[in-house]
Amino acid sequence: MAGQAGLEEVVAAQTKLSDIDGKLGRLSYVGYDIHDLATHSTFEEVVFLLHHLRLPRADELEALSEELAEERTLSEFLADLMPTLAQQTSPMSMLRTTISAASAYDPDGWDQSPEANLRKAMRLVAKTPTLIATYHRHRTDQDPVQPNPKLPHAANFLAMLLGEEPDQDTARALDITLVLYADHTLNASTFTARVIASTLSDMHSAITGAIAALKGPLHGGANEEAMKMLEEIGTVDRAEEYVKDRLARKQKIMGFGHRVYKTEDPRATHLRRLSRELGERHGDMRWYEISERVEKVVMEEKGLYPNVDFYAASVYHSMGIPTDLMTPIFALARMAGWTAHVREQYADNRLIRPESEYIGPLDQQYVPIEERAESESEAAS
Ligand code: COA
Repeated sequence: MAGQAGLEEVVAAQTKLSDIDGKLGRLSYVGYDIHDLATHSTFEEVVFLLHHLRLPRADELEALSEELAEERTLSEFLADLMPTLAQQTSPMSMLRTTISAASAYDPDGWDQSPEANLRKAMRLVAKTPTLIATYHRHRTDQDPVQPNPKLPHAANFLAMLLGEEPDQDTARALDITLVLYADHTLNASTFTARVIASTLSDMHSAITGAIAALKGPLHGGANEEAMKMLEEIGTVDRAEEYVKDRLARKQKIMGFGHRVYKTEDPRATHLRRLSRELGERHGDMRWYEISERVEKVVMEEKGLYPNVDFYAASVYHSMGIPTDLMTPIFALARMAGWTAHVREQYADNRLIRPESEYIGPLDQQYVPIEERAESESEAAS
């Protein structure tokens, strides 16, 4: 029987980590509504939730936060790689390469025990912000900023990236976006990670594969494209014409539509609010106002809702985050979900090995190489 193109609606794994109701526009992690988590939880708390399948007590959250802060520093090997990578590679290629390279220096080595894999997961979550920030400092000819163990995950990332401690509201805004991006059922990169884990390959290999999948423009990258679009539009009065013109040329509006959500993506609700609040705080409503106008026109013209990536673009831009780091920040947050999915796969593993449907020629006559005519080979290729 023919398979479903793109595996749409095919259930390929069971998970206790996250769940989407596309009709009602609901997302939950371990049964907790994303609205509650985005309102009350920090990213660190969500890391605990995804890895322990329950919310932490205060002392447990403190211990996890300390563990993450201790693991932020890069090994000498990774720090030495960075100047070359900053000159030679794009941010996502750097991340794919360094996460792979990090396996060589992980203190747990090839230990595949559940305890070692949890420690590896926490190290990956802890080090990803340092990798992105160090890369950016090098490529802009600035000295890397050492992690500050006194700062939480989100605030420390901004401090390492921009060279100054962010105000509390900006740090919390980033923290909320990390909560929103932390997991999202069996998206392409998470599925990739689970397929690799199902061969009993190691944690770093599975995460390297996930990053490679996220790198593609059909998965990650929409927040960057949305920002480029807002910049092209430039002013609110140009938004309507721009959108209509694009739609008339059958081009997609980046940051709109979703395979699963048939109503508003619940993450977009928070990001729209954050975009407005950050704009107000910085006295620059331009990006929010253009976004709002684009949203209105896309709804009128196509009946499409914004997804997570649309308002994330103006949120990150307002924080001073360069556009090409928006997908790496998606990875920074999703590291929580990827690593939890890999551990979930190991805990109850069966090799993921689907079938394919053969659609090539049948019963071909084998011809020895010296008798193969040029025209026949060309016709076949
Ligand atoms: N802009 C304009 N039209 C869009 C659109 C968009 N962003 N997203 C979907 N559509 C239209 C399609 O053109 C198609 O219209 P048609 O029936 O007239 O041909 C219809 O909606 C269905 O789209 P399709 O691409 O088949 O839906 P999908 O479920 O396969 O794709 C996405 C979902 C997310 C890939 C798609 O909406 C998209 O490409 N969005 C932009 C990229 C993006 O924001 N990605 C991040 C997702 S979190």
